[in-house]
Amino acid sequence: MEPASGVTRRLVERLSKAKTLAVLTGAGVSQESGVPTFRGEEGLWRQHRAEELATWQAFETDPKLVWSWYDYRRQVVSDSEPNPAHAAIAELEKGYPHFSLITQNTDGLHERAGSTALVELHGSIWRARCTAEQTVHDLPESPLTQIPPLCPDCGSLLRPDVVWYGEPLPMDAYERSHEIASSCDAMLVVGTSAVVHPAASLPLVAKHMGAFVVEVNPAYTPISALVDATLLGKAGDIMQELAAGVLEAVEAAGGTAPDTVSNSASA
Ligand code: OAD
Repeated sequence: MEPASGVTRRLVERLSKAKTLAVLTGAGVSQESGVPTFRGEEGLWRQHRAEELATWQAFETDPKLVWSWYDYRRQVVSDSEPNPAHAAIAELEKGYPHFSLITQNTDGLHERAGSTALVELHGSIWRARCTAEQTVHDLPESPLTQIPPLCPDCGSLLRPDVVWYGEPLPMDAYERSHEIASSCDAMLVVGTSAVVHPAASLPLVAKHMGAFVVEVNPAYTPISALVDATLLGKAGDIMQELAAGVLEAVEAAGGTAPDTVSNSASA
């Protein structure tokens, strides 16, 4: 009988044969840590939707409101811990000789779980950028003592060092993620609604280039019909089961020899 999670022996074997594994994550991977996702009911903050707050226009109009939302999200994240999904992804990195993690998340939880081969596509809420000089500053204090925070060098307004709607992605992160998607043998797409581009295009790039693409999500998404399999369920359970099975199979096969790999996708 097939397991309820959909993590079948065939799927595990297929993933374990990949020489380069890529993982793309979205807000759903942090949901079980208590970090609200962006869309749906839990994305609302004081009746505002993320799409209304995560824009330059919203920031220009009311920087205090936008920073208050980020201050709230930063506090939620600093009060939370990486969950079993983050841990399973960090384990996959250790077990796979050629591994890359691309995240749309800005919360830093992958890093806290031990992931290192990480491309942060949408920036980090733990950094801020000067609106006058574009200098980037670490901003670890939570809650913030001053809202909006000001640049320690010139006193201008700081903005979160994240990508807002309508803004381009950081060029190096975008190029790197495209390169990873184009060259991986398999990609896991975990906890993303796959509606925000260009991140949502990466699984399609991988598929187009011949990779085996598996999605993990409690709900179907616009890419579900285009990928090889959708495992319906929460990332914590499924990623633990998947990582344990895949790493066991990789181990049993004696690991993947790095020199047989044509393209290393470590970030
Ligand atoms: P969304 O909030 O759009 O989607 C979250 C996805 O996670 C949905 O498809 C849920 O079904 C799924 N999900 C919920 N709980 C889950 C769980 N426990 N395990 C696995 N999946 C679960 O978040 P993103 O796709 O990350 O952009 O959104 C993309 C971008 O839109 C974000 O990076 C952010 C946002 O606006 C910027 O800030 C630029």
